[in-house]
Amino acid sequence: MPLLTILPSGATVDAIPGTTLLQALLAADASLAHKCDGKGECGSCHVFVHDGRKTLSRIDRAENEKLDMLVGVGSRSRLACRATIGDDAITVELLRFA
Ligand code: FES
Repeated sequence: MPLLTILPSGATVDAIPGTTLLQALLAADASLAHKCDGKGECGSCHVFVHDGRKTLSRIDRAENEKLDMLVGVGSRSRLACRATIGDDAITVELLRFA
């Protein structure tokens, strides 16, 4: 299983391929807002992916459009609820704290 490292705490957990980053982070008891419960509508699950971006599912049009509406977006930005985990290790930085 791919190792998921969560910043800023540095906690690590085994993630399950095929689940979303949001599901993996919540299963790891990470404090991450998810106001629309994973529908990709609110943007509150915005995270930075520092390592493993290529193992995640590609950004689709809906996610890209939502990211375009958020403040503080960069090249490492993903919506945790729209990014599906692949087979390689990932390092994610939480930006907001619920
Ligand atoms: S939980 Fe709302 S966009 Fe991800």
